[in-house]
Amino acid sequence: MEGLNHAGPDKHPHAIAGMFDAIARRYDFLNHLLSGGLDRRWRARAVRELAFQGHEVVLDLCTGTADLAIAAIEARQGAARRVLGVDFAGEMLRIGQQKLRAASHDGRVPLVRGDAVRLPVASASVHCAMVAFGIRNVVDPAAACVEVHRVLRPGGRFAVLEFAMPRTPVLRSVYAWYFRHVLPRIGRAVSRHDAAYDYLPASVGTFFPPETFIAIVERAGFTRVRAIPLTFGIVYLYVAEKPRATGETAGGMGRGGASNGPAATMM
Ligand SMILES: C[S@@+](CC[C@H](N)C(=O)[O-])C[C@H]1O[C@@H](n2cnc3c(N)ncnc32)[C@H](O)[C@@H]1O
Repeated sequence: MEGLNHAGPDKHPHAIAGMFDAIARRYDFLNHLLSGGLDRRWRARAVRELAFQGHEVVLDLCTGTADLAIAAIEARQGAARRVLGVDFAGEMLRIGQQKLRAASHDGRVPLVRGDAVRLPVASASVHCAMVAFGIRNVVDPAAACVEVHRVLRPGGRFAVLEFAMPRTPVLRSVYAWYFRHVLPRIGRAVSRHDAAYDYLPASVGTFFPPETFIAIVERAGFTRVRAIPLTFGIVYLYVAEKPRATGETAGGMGRGGASNGPAATMM
């Protein structure tokens, strides 16, 4: 990504978990501030796209302070029955637990400490899986997608929200400037953590472009992979499905039984 640091940031699990633990108490506030409140809309869109019918058990990977899990439980139309939140940062989970308890959701949203590449979840046990702004932090995102595929039931859906760089040159320059000069300063001042808000643009700048991430999701065994740009393409919502039947592969037979054309669609 031009204008951004290309050096891959340190993604050692201890470093990542320690960094999120250190900023946990300011994390939600900074999320809403730095995105101008758009983060709530992006999560709501992901939940809408999964279109729960009320009976689903859902996995929220890299759940952090559980905002996506809460959005899935509180959705006015199409809420999930139960959401299991998994994250390896204990302090993020502690804040999430407080929020869940305050909203009386703790019975429906258990939080578990665990690694996205070795999920403490039985195979073929969840109806849907989702992850918001977490996959780029995982050392091996492809391994996490394979793990999600393992724990999903056949026909289960997977939604991923992740930052991207806008493609339009002018927007891209403005965004790179905001990421390089504005966001780290505000992040540092509010979180009082020196590195976390330098890490954010560095991790976005070195994450896969949408086409590559689609290929990773397909390689993990998913079909009907779509990438939906949100807010001028600064965020992408990826939606994918675990095939229902053996032999149904990426680009093959889908829910309706007919070929859906190209497996991956950029929208
Ligand atoms: C940017 S936060 C996103 C939190 C939340 N999903 C949200 O929408 O605000 C990223 C989270 O991913 C977690 N994380 C990163 N790598 C992980 C891994 N390999 N296993 C479990 N959690 C991980 C971090 O601890 C952190 O809480």
